[in-house]
Amino acid sequence: MTGLRFDFVNGLRWPELVALFDAGQLDILQPVFGTAENADKGAMTGPFLRVPYGVVTAMGAAPVTQLEQLNDKVLAIPEGWSILPLVRQHYPEIQILEVASVRSIFDAVRTGKADVGLDTAAILDYTMRQFFIGDIQLHEPLQLGQQLPDQLHFLVHNKLEGLADIINLALANISDEQRQVLQSRWLEAPRRSQQGMGTVPYVELRNLVADAANLDRLNQLTIAGRDHFVYIQALDGQSANPDFFAVVTPVAAVVEPAIDKVVRAMWITGACLLLLLPLSSWLAGFIVKPITRLAEENRKISQRNYGALAPVNSRIVEIENLAASLTAMAAAIERHGKEQETLMEAFVTLVAQAIDDKSPYTAKHCARVPELAMMLARQAHHSQEKPFDSFCFGSEQQWREFRLGALLHDCGKITTPEHIIDKGTKLEANYNRIHEIRTRFEVLWRDAEIDYWRKRFEGASDDNTLRAELDQRQRQLQENFAFIASCNLGGEYLDEAAIARLEKLAAIPWQRNFDDRLGLSPVEEARLPLAPRPLPVTETLLADKPQHIIFREEDKHYPARFGIRMDVPEHLYNLGELYNLKVVRGTLTAEDRFKINEHIISTIKMLDSLPFPEELAQVPRYATTHHETLDGTGYPRKLTAEDLSIPERIMVLADIFEALTAGDRPYKPAKAVSTAIEILHGMVQSNHVDRDIFELFLRSGVYLEFARRFLPAEQIDEVDIGRYLT
Ligand SMILES: [Fe+2]
Repeated sequence: MTGLRFDFVNGLRWPELVALFDAGQLDILQPVFGTAENADKGAMTGPFLRVPYGVVTAMGAAPVTQLEQLNDKVLAIPEGWSILPLVRQHYPEIQILEVASVRSIFDAVRTGKADVGLDTAAILDYTMRQFFIGDIQLHEPLQLGQQLPDQLHFLVHNKLEGLADIINLALANISDEQRQVLQSRWLEAPRRSQQGMGTVPYVELRNLVADAANLDRLNQLTIAGRDHFVYIQALDGQSANPDFFAVVTPVAAVVEPAIDKVVRAMWITGACLLLLLPLSSWLAGFIVKPITRLAEENRKISQRNYGALAPVNSRIVEIENLAASLTAMAAAIERHGKEQETLMEAFVTLVAQAIDDKSPYTAKHCARVPELAMMLARQAHHSQEKPFDSFCFGSEQQWREFRLGALLHDCGKITTPEHIIDKGTKLEANYNRIHEIRTRFEVLWRDAEIDYWRKRFEGASDDNTLRAELDQRQRQLQENFAFIASCNLGGEYLDEAAIARLEKLAAIPWQRNFDDRLGLSPVEEARLPLAPRPLPVTETLLADKPQHIIFREEDKHYPARFGIRMDVPEHLYNLGELYNLKVVRGTLTAEDRFKINEHIISTIKMLDSLPFPEELAQVPRYATTHHETLDGTGYPRKLTAEDLSIPERIMVLADIFEALTAGDRPYKPAKAVSTAIEILHGMVQSNHVDRDIFELFLRSGVYLEFARRFLPAEQIDEVDIGRYLT
């Protein structure tokens, strides 16, 4: 409007500004009241603003509307203020206290040095809010009449002649409307605003600078009920009363835009994920599904269920290759498993074959018992009659387990001496010792002849008498030997009379002229009495000598887990001639009988040492229960009916029937089928053989099927099975 450029000088107190103006260093001083004193200093422009006066008092003081009310009171006024002479002039009864600044007015009133402070109402109000003065009361407007000027002017230095006119011209051109805008913006709007116009807008900032720890860092505090970030830095840290630079920003203004962005980003991310999830799930299916299938196929392999394996296809080459390698691996494992099974089958068959080959008299027992047992088990498996309706072999492995158990049922016989298994006569050891006895009879025969010739030489009697006597003795010898030889056979029952005759014959003496300690093995020598008898020695026809006793060297006790409950004879063997010949029935002594029965203990020991896989865990049990009976009199564990399963009862019958019908026993002829069944029936009645198994055996025709497959036709006779069925 004026075309002039103004440089503003700020930051100085009023007296300093006045001094600068007086010294000619300021061209224009403003704002000034239109006092005479001011007018003397330079050219006064016209007024540009009217400012009402106000006073401040302590809180609770009476309202002040006129300066006359302040007579006799102390009035604080900023020093050097141009209206000061006018106040003194028009209100002489007021005591004036000049203070350094407007703010000092408040200090003077607060400390009681002054009763009232005077300045323009706008400046007082501004100062109160700038310094957060709440304990002082402002009274406005003040009615002053014409005593004090209330309009503000520019004071132009005299050296700048004409400048006042230019400013006046500019002021004159300010319209009322513009004036009103200026009035409103400069004086009224700041006062209406709650926000202070001061350099320290919030009292919290003043509290904050009290602690140096709050400087040079970001603080967060609540101002006017809102969270703000506050950063304060001292502009001159070395000064005792420094100025501070502060930045105050509402937290929301800083964070909210970021939060908005974060929230928006989260929504976008969430939306993308939602879109991607089905896609990724669909894509993952290409990997997960075949891998899941592979795991399933792997489970089948671990269960050795090779037949259920199914191919796994995948579009991913690596998984396809993995599936192919799994299939190949399964085939290799299956092949290996079958090889192992075949090897085991062959080995078990080999053992059974070895047992059968060991003795020509039991040549096919180990091979035939499994056949008969399997025939019966199949009938039981398919039978819906009680008690078989609840029995079945659920898998091929169970059939295999049972068959292997049957094949191995006599594997312990590999340890049984052949001369015991096949002991055909009572005097048989490694050979039939009847020949020794017969030789003794030969000796006696010749002794009789020698006696005859000696007596004849001596003329003791006539020849006829002597010949008759010799014939008599030799006839007697023949009869006696025939009797002893018959006793050597196991087919007949030996009664007490026979035993008495044996004992009588046993005592018949004969003379031994040769040393019986020559040509012996160390073991035989060890069994002889310590002191040899001098030759010739009178021996008896039959003798039970100390050297006939073979002592038991093995421990008679077995591990508890075997469950063996058998009476063990004191001696391993007793080869005594009379002792053996006196066996009442059959050819076996108690020692021999135990040695034969001991085969089942050997079976237990042998199978116990084998690490059978889980599916063959029952093999040892199936192989070792065929000599048990339902009434608990069997061996080796004295099991009873409650202990014996259907397969185990089948094994009992199969073992007995095969043994009864075998045509190859040394001590008895083969029995006809009807005889064997009759004997079996007797064992059923004595509760040794299970009746249900026996009747299944008959009713199903297994007895006939077995006989036709394995027995000669002459053994297969008519059987009236109706006699035995209940
Ligand atoms: Fe046996």
